[in-house]
Amino acid sequence: MKCRKCGGAAVLELRRHNAAFCAPDFLEFFKNQVKEAIRKFRMFERDEHVLVAVSGGKDSLALWDVLIEEGYRTTGLYLDLGIFDYSVESKAKCEHFAAAHGVPLLVVSVAEEVGAPVPVIKNVTRRPPCSGCGLSKRYLMNRAALEHGIPVVATGHNLDDEAATLFGSVLHWQTDALPRQSPALPSTHAKLARRVKPLYRLSERETAAYAFLRKIDYIVEECPFAKGATSIAHKEILSRLEDVSPGAKHNFLFGFLEKARPAFERAEAVVLNECVRCGQVTTGTLCAFCKLADQVKRRT
Ligand code: AMP
Ligand code: FES
Ligand code: ZN
Repeated sequence: MKCRKCGGAAVLELRRHNAAFCAPDFLEFFKNQVKEAIRKFRMFERDEHVLVAVSGGKDSLALWDVLIEEGYRTTGLYLDLGIFDYSVESKAKCEHFAAAHGVPLLVVSVAEEVGAPVPVIKNVTRRPPCSGCGLSKRYLMNRAALEHGIPVVATGHNLDDEAATLFGSVLHWQTDALPRQSPALPSTHAKLARRVKPLYRLSERETAAYAFLRKIDYIVEECPFAKGATSIAHKEILSRLEDVSPGAKHNFLFGFLEKARPAFERAEAVVLNECVRCGQVTTGTLCAFCKLADQVKRRT
C-alpha cells in the first residue's frame, strides 16, 4: 500500500476515498477535512472564540487538538455527569489535555446544576439515562457559551454518529428531527449559541487514527449506560453496510444533507420564549431543564 500523496509506505487505507496515506499525509488529510467542514458551513470565523465540548473521548479531544493546531482561540467545556469511574477518568483526560496544551477548560457539574447526577436522574425520570443526560448537556453547553460570551459550541460528533442519528430518525420518520440534523445549526435567538460539528466528514476509525498518531491520551471506555442503546445497533448495521459497500455511510449522510434535508425544513419558524425561571430559551413557559430539576427535587 502506497501513500496517495507521497508514494511512501501507507499506514492507513481509506476505502471510501479509494486512498491510503502515510502518517504525516493522513494528519494533513484529516485537518483538511476539518477545514473544509468549517469553510463549507461557515461554522466560525478565524477570530471567533470557540467553546469545544469535550467528553474525554477520542473525537472531541481530536477536534480540540486540530483547532488549537490551526490557531483558533478555544476554551474547553467538560460536563461532569457523575457517572461513577467513567466520569472521574474522562474528566482527568480533559484536564490533562488542557494543561498539556495550556488552554482553558471549564468544568460544570450536572449534579450541582440539576440536583442529582445522571444515574439518579435516570431513576427519577424512569426514562433511558441518555434522555435526561442529553437534555442537560445541550442546556449546560448553551448556558456556558452565553455566560462566557462565546458565540459557538463545537462538538466532536463524527460521520458515524451523524449517519446513525439520521438512520434512527428516518426509521421512525421523525420529520421534526430531520431539519435539525445538520453539521451547523445557526443561532435563532439572542440566547442561543451556534452549534457546529466540524468532524462530520470524518469516520470514527479516522478520528481514532488521528488520536493515536497525535498521541492523545483519551478514555477508551464508552459511557456504561450506552450498552444496548439503539444508537449502537444503528451504528453496527451501518458499519456492516460499509464493509460490503465502502462509502455507504458517507453517501447516506451527504446525500441527505444535499438532496433531502431542504424538503423537511419548515416554512414557519418555531416561536421561542425565555423560560420564566432561568431565562434560557424554550418553546413553552418553563424550560425542560427547569422541569427536570423540579422532578429531581420532588423525588430525591
Ligand atoms: P456522545 O453523545 O457521547 O456521542 O458525544 C457527542 C459529543 O458531545 C462529544 O464529541 C462531545 O463534543 C460532546 N460531549 C459528550 N459528552 C460530553 C461531556 N460529558 N462534556 C462535554 N461534552 C460532551
Ligand atoms: Fe449520557 Fe451516557 S453519556 S447517559
Ligand atoms: Zn429554565
